[in-house]
Amino acid sequence: MYEERKNTVADKFVELFGGDKSDIRFFAAPGRVNLIGEHIDYCGGYVFPAALTLDNIVAVRKTNDRKLKMAATDLEGLFIADLDNIEDAKNLKWGNYQAGVAKELMDRGYELTGCEMLMDGIIPFGSGLSSSASIELVTAVALAGLAGDTEIAKPEKLIDFAVAGQGAEHNFCNVNCGIMDQFASAMGKKDHAILLNCSTLEYKYVPLQLGDYVLILANTKKKHKLGESKYNERRSEVEIGLKELNKFSGMNKENLCDYTEEDFNKYGADISDPIIRKRVEHVILENERVKKAVPVLESGDLESFGKILCAANDSIRYLYEVTGDELDAMWEEAQKIPGVLGSRMTGAGFGGCVLNIVKKSAADEFIAEVGKNYEARTGLHPEFYVCSIGDGAREI
Ligand code: GLA
Repeated sequence: MYEERKNTVADKFVELFGGDKSDIRFFAAPGRVNLIGEHIDYCGGYVFPAALTLDNIVAVRKTNDRKLKMAATDLEGLFIADLDNIEDAKNLKWGNYQAGVAKELMDRGYELTGCEMLMDGIIPFGSGLSSSASIELVTAVALAGLAGDTEIAKPEKLIDFAVAGQGAEHNFCNVNCGIMDQFASAMGKKDHAILLNCSTLEYKYVPLQLGDYVLILANTKKKHKLGESKYNERRSEVEIGLKELNKFSGMNKENLCDYTEEDFNKYGADISDPIIRKRVEHVILENERVKKAVPVLESGDLESFGKILCAANDSIRYLYEVTGDELDAMWEEAQKIPGVLGSRMTGAGFGGCVLNIVKKSAADEFIAEVGKNYEARTGLHPEFYVCSIGDGAREI
């Protein structure tokens, strides 16, 4: 399935770096969609993402120096990070995710060598589908592979690469993200979603059997880059929330998601700041929703699953407040189409995509109608992708 794309990328690689194609290796890592469990990975909650077949692939070749020479098929220029002064790469215009991952791998004892890298991505940037996690994970498997690691396909390794990717976000990119995106990109499995306990990293694959339905992602085309500062703001709010609940309950839990709905009903009202109270309510109830939603999906009850997605959307919209006009307009337009069982914004929010469960026979009408009505309301021309669920990071 990759042959054509690999050929095209290899041609560009040789154009850019010279040499021939024989010693180029290829790696891939996907973006993800989160079915449910939003903004709770960093609270030790359960999340339920799946890897997409939309991915980043990278062509790489070892060099004899200590430089990462990085380029992308959709970007002008060459970006260089020096492995011996890796911190300097924080200032790169592009390539700091890769450099951040290189730093994390070196910290883990990998003896990295210089290399030439050409990235080719098909995940729309800023769409909330984890294009950055995909860059991190493809870089991790590629650099570890080039360093001679023959075990990059092992789950324990992939999970560690996910943690390395998260470390790159924290230490190189100032985004204090959770582990969900990197985990999904590392550990994705074709036609399965992953139920992940973000506090222990225990996970279980759940087959995605959708019968007469498809998952359609509706991209608002409102890029969510601006949201990053709000993202860190939400993280601080829930930290305050945890301290408050620990104080009022005397329970001293490590994670907000260690609290149950019953606990929230008992102690939630003691939280005096209404904003903090709303954030805490979302986190605790969203975690409970994930636990309910997964068996419902496993039993094939898509209708109930769809209703839970809508309840989750209300919560992220009104309690966690990370949607915004575009996501709200898209969600509202989707609900007007017969054949839609449920919808929910997916990812960090502030733009990006709404995920919809749509009857196969209504998919064309859905895309045409929602597209037209959304554009009329917002002036933005949306895009739609029928989800296909693929594998995690690997050599291809
Ligand atoms: C972003 C972060 C994830 C997660 C989601 C919201 O995608 O990278 O860790 O917090 O937002 O669920």
